[in-house]
Formats: sequence, C-alpha cells, structure tokens
Amino acid sequence: MSRPFEQRAHRALSMVARDQEQAHLSAAFDHARNEQATVVLVSGEPGIGKTRLIQEFLKSHQDDATIIEAVCYSDIVHPLAAMQSALQRISEFSAPGWDEALGQAQLSSFIRSRGDSGTNADSAEDVRRTIDRITVLLQTLAESQPVIVSMDDAQWASEPDLELVRYLLRSPRDTPILVILGYRDTDIDPRGALQQLIRDAYRESTVERIALKRIGEHGARQLIGAILDSAAHTIARPLAQAIQQEAEGVPFFIEELVLHLHESGSLRREGKTWMIANKAEIDIPQSIHGVVTSRLMALSEEAQKTLSIGAVYGRTFPLDLIVDVAQRIESSSPEEVAAQLDEALSRSLIVENHAGPDVRAQISYAFAHDQIREVLTRDLNAIRRRILHQAIAEALEEHGNPAEPGYDAALAYHFGNGEDIARASQFAERAGDQDARLGAFFQASTHYSTA
Ligand SMILES: Nc1ncnc2c1ncn2[C@@H]1O[C@H](COP(=O)(O)OP(=O)(O)OP(=O)(O)O)[C@@H](O)[C@H]1O
Ligand SMILES: [Mg+2]
Repeated sequence: MSRPFEQRAHRALSMVARDQEQAHLSAAFDHARNEQATVVLVSGEPGIGKTRLIQEFLKSHQDDATIIEAVCYSDIVHPLAAMQSALQRISEFSAPGWDEALGQAQLSSFIRSRGDSGTNADSAEDVRRTIDRITVLLQTLAESQPVIVSMDDAQWASEPDLELVRYLLRSPRDTPILVILGYRDTDIDPRGALQQLIRDAYRESTVERIALKRIGEHGARQLIGAILDSAAHTIARPLAQAIQQEAEGVPFFIEELVLHLHESGSLRREGKTWMIANKAEIDIPQSIHGVVTSRLMALSEEAQKTLSIGAVYGRTFPLDLIVDVAQRIESSSPEEVAAQLDEALSRSLIVENHAGPDVRAQISYAFAHDQIREVLTRDLNAIRRRILHQAIAEALEEHGNPAEPGYDAALAYHFGNGEDIARASQFAERAGDQDARLGAFFQASTHYSTA
C-alpha cells in the first residue's frame, strides 16, 4: 500500500551532493525524539533542491514516524488549507494512535469538512480553537511515535498554518515533534508572518538551519550522469563544464538543460562516455526561462495549448477539467487531449498524480516543477489568458464540486481574470461568507474587498 505522501513532482533519480544536509536533518530528528520539539528551516533559491531533500528525508522515516505532509500553494489561499489537506490525506491511513488522537482532539468534522463546517462562527477565536485542536491531535499522536510535520513552500503558508507551527514548538519537553519548513528565501517578505515565526522560534525553541547552496562540478557531473542513465556511464568533462557554466549548480537548471540537449540531439555516447555531439551546433540556453521555453516549444502546438490550460488552472490540474476546457475553446476531443498530455508526460514536463488509496479519485497531473508552469503563464498573451480564465470558470461552475474547499474563491478568481466582473463579485461574496463561517477572518476580509 502506498504511503500518505503527496506524490510530488520529482523524478526517481538518486540524490547527489547533499550528505551533510541529510546528516543535519537526522541530527535534528534525534534531538526532537530525545529532547524537545524542534524546527528545521530548509531554505534556498527556487530549484535548489529543498523539496527533494525533504522528500528523501520523509521517505527514510516512513516506518518510524508519523508524517504529516503539508504543502502550501501560491494560488490556494484559504486558511489552514495546507494542514487541512495534510490531515485529510493521513486520515486515510491508519497511523499509530490515530483514532484515539482524533477523538481526543474533536477534529473529525474539520478533517471531513470540505471547506464549510469546520467551525461555525466568524471570529478569530474559532481559528484559534481549530489550531488548538490540531495541536492536541499532533501531540497525542506523538505519544505513540515521533511526529514529523513538513510544511513545504512555506513562503505561501496562510497565517493560521504558521500559527499552528508556533503552537507545536511550544509543546512540553519530551514531545517528539519535528517541524520542517521549506521555503524560498528569495521570496520571503521581511515583515511577513513567516519571517516573524522564524525570529520568534530562535528565541523560544530549538532551531536548526539548512541553507541549501548550489552544487559543485563534481555533484553536477553525478547529477548529469543520473539523468542520462545509470552510473555505468561517464560524462565528458567539456559537456559537464558547458552545462555547469550556464546552470551554475542549480539542480533544476541542470536537469532541464540535460533534457533539452538530449531531446534536441546535441548529445552522443561514445563507448561509455556521454559527450557533446557537435560542438559547432550546440545551443545552450542561458537562462532557466530559455531552457524551459525550448523544451516547451519542442511539443506540438496543440500540446502547448493544452498545457497552458493546465498552467492557468494551477500547479495541479484534473484531467476532466482540461478535457472540458479544451473542448470549449479548441474543440478538441478527449482522445486528442489525452495524446497531448502523453506528449508532455514523456518529456517529463508533467507527472501523473496518484491521489492516495482512493481508486475513485480522478486522474490529475502536476507540472514537474513550478517553474515550468511559470514560464507557460508568463508567455501567454493577455487575450488568451482572459479566454482561458473565463473558460475554466465556466467549466468549474458547470461541473465542479461546490463543496470543495476554495471552490467559490477559485470561481471568483477565474471569473475576475476572465473579466466577468458580475459573476466574480458574486462568488467573491460567497467565498467571503464561507471563509467567515470557517472562522477564517484573515482571508474573509480580502475576498470581501474584492467584491
Ligand atoms: N541533490 C540533488 N540530487 C539530485 N537531484 C536533485 C537534487 N536537488 C534537486 N534535484 C532535482 O532538481 C529539481 C528541483 O529540485 P526541487 O524541486 O527540490 O527544488 P526546490 O528548491 O524545492 O524548488 P522550488 O523553490 O521551486 O520549490 C527536482 O527535479 C529535483 O529532483
Ligand atoms: Mg520545492
């Protein structure tokens, strides 16, 4: 049976050049297990390997810890969203002590709720009560075995999600809870809630810091080797240097460059050595944007269009929705859409999402990396962008599930960007109401001001 991790966009290659950081994480876990709740800050620029490092660590503890994996998204803003979906995921598996802890914390309705009945009045007090209960839940779970709470992309966490981390760190001594916060230190607001939490954590609890640095030539060569195929091959020095010169040790950039060179026929293998096929013709894009663009341009035009629907929708996108929108604006058939998505899958631009053990769950896809989505949306012209938002909003309105968390907010957002102001206001108002009922006063004020 698969584990309650969210299957994230990373390829199953071996990890390189992070031995020290892995040891550091293990030491922090030991400290949490033997002494007190501890937080590890895993920071670094986009594509440096934060998610990868965290995922490898979680994988290595799936048998001796209860893992709560919260992921924050730039476009999912409702309060406690990250925690709610992490708890929903784990509730489908029987973690040791789960039923008892759940009963004690009285959280069943919050976990079951799809965004409306978690709590029932509109005050800061209700948010705080929910945070309290989640804290009790996690502390009770920690009586059975250590708990690891991972919150990735925490630069996008809602304030209540961060408040919860604060509560966890104040757990009594001997509560084995390890919190891992992964975040882009390039994107963090110096006056924002995350920065504040980090500052306070230093004062009040055990903080470990892992600032990921770019990898050196040796690591880059290993990574290139792993991407091209097994370790049985060596990488010619000029090839490694050419890649490293542009990618400068950012693993995401290295990966994309290698895939680009490989797909464009710029590499050849001689015996056991990979090298540049024809030096005169080699085209090495000089930015991540450039290399991702080249890889996207290698897709058929139809596949590019289909992917751009997904990109406007979100980091992950359900197949049904893409089929529906593609039919509305491109008159594509479901078979055509499936073939286009296969094209993108075979080039590792997207990955298929496995939505836990529920076989009825619908198929969805995720971009292999956020930056692929960013390039797609940045390069869209304004008119097409508007058309896509409008079509997505209409598809959601017709076939979406209004009980999904964030449904009204998503409709408000897409209608708003589709410039259908009347319907955007209508949904913004409902999103405001719904969040208010959730006790999410932080967010409610923003939706109301849009309305
Ligand atoms: N040490 C490593 N060894 C092998 N592959 C790596 C390593 N670090 C990162 N990668 C790969 O590089 C890509 C980018 O890494 P990752 O997604 O972890 O970056 P990130 O820091 O989380 O970026 P973002 O801030 O955009 O979320 C992934 O495909 C990942 O598997
Ligand atoms: Mg990441």
